[in-house]
Amino acid sequence: MFAKERFLGVDFGTESIKAVELELRAGQPFLVNYGEVPLLTPYDSKKPATRSFHEDMAVKFKALLERMQPETNQICISMPSFLGLISLIEFPEMTDSELEEAVRFEARKYIPSALEDVSLSWESLGTKDAVGTASEKDAKNRKTEVLLVAALNKDVWQYEGYVSSVGYEMKLLELETFSIIRSVVGSDLGTFLVIDIGARAANVILVENGYVKKSRSIDAGGRDITRALSESLNISVDRADTLKKSTKDFLNAKDVAVIFPAIETIINESGRMVESWKTTRLDGKIDSVILSGGTGHMTGLPQYLSKKLGLPVKLSDPWRTISYLPILQPKIALIGASFSAAIGLALYAIADAEKKKQS
Ligand SMILES: Nc1ncnc2c1ncn2[C@@H]1O[C@H](COP(=O)(O)OP(=O)(O)OP(=O)(O)O)[C@@H](O)[C@H]1O
Ligand SMILES: [Mg+2]
Repeated sequence: MFAKERFLGVDFGTESIKAVELELRAGQPFLVNYGEVPLLTPYDSKKPATRSFHEDMAVKFKALLERMQPETNQICISMPSFLGLISLIEFPEMTDSELEEAVRFEARKYIPSALEDVSLSWESLGTKDAVGTASEKDAKNRKTEVLLVAALNKDVWQYEGYVSSVGYEMKLLELETFSIIRSVVGSDLGTFLVIDIGARAANVILVENGYVKKSRSIDAGGRDITRALSESLNISVDRADTLKKSTKDFLNAKDVAVIFPAIETIINESGRMVESWKTTRLDGKIDSVILSGGTGHMTGLPQYLSKKLGLPVKLSDPWRTISYLPILQPKIALIGASFSAAIGLALYAIADAEKKKQS
């Protein structure tokens, strides 16, 4: 009867599913449970796959919940951002109903599929002066920015299916970009480039005062880094993976000459986003780069990115607003930034419940 409300976030990644369960203690998010379950990866090719990736996902998700025994049946989940599209569109200033019509019309240009096959959402992010205009009061030159988000229905249904198959109620399904931003940036003011590097994919996200303004998914991640290390040093993939996670700096040390094409690709895309941002703002300054995802922990990566991008770079701390038992500290430090999406989802559940209580 006096049981506290629980909040559950689940991040469906490509190498693992991660879950975080929170409750509120003295008004603060407190970690009551978390879990991670590995998915089939290409490294498992030694053992022939007995089921498809999606079958594996459903089985592993069920197993994770059975292990965690969450004390809620409501769940917020994310799907990989490479399954969706996030675009910032500019419109002349207009009324809300005109905007609704204009967005529907414009969406066709941005979305390569038939609109009936797509789940579409959009949000007006306010108005701004067009770059290069002299007067702030010149209404003609004011633009409304709209963020358009889309994903194929078939992918949305796939993820909804995982949740309904375990009998849970889905409160939210979003692209991981938004979950990551909620935990690593929150409502911090400023302009940040968040680089999330997972196992298979990386997300480069431009965030202005807490709002996602640009987001790109890149087919480059930790798997590619392990492979490059294994090939360059002529060692097994397992050995390379251990070495990659060690304290040895393969990026900045003068005596190691391993080239990681995946990291160079991520740097090029990040540089391109920084440049394109300058064309949308009078002052296109970016305050800093925030690294997220498991690969964000790679020794020397912040220094290397900082040198290449000419910006301060730091590893994110998605746990910064979460309290937990002190005994968990070493483990939390280890998994650190790889839980950013799962935490962001559980934080959404909390914010949503608070909002409902107030209304
Ligand atoms: N200390 C570390 N140093 C370097 N790489 C690490 C470290 N810890 C984890 N990784 C790598 O991070 C990757 C996993 O990151 P993460 O958990 O964010 O991925 P994911 O969410 O499962 O996958 P994706 O985001 O691609 O869908 C793996 O490639 C792993 O080898
Ligand atoms: Mg991920």
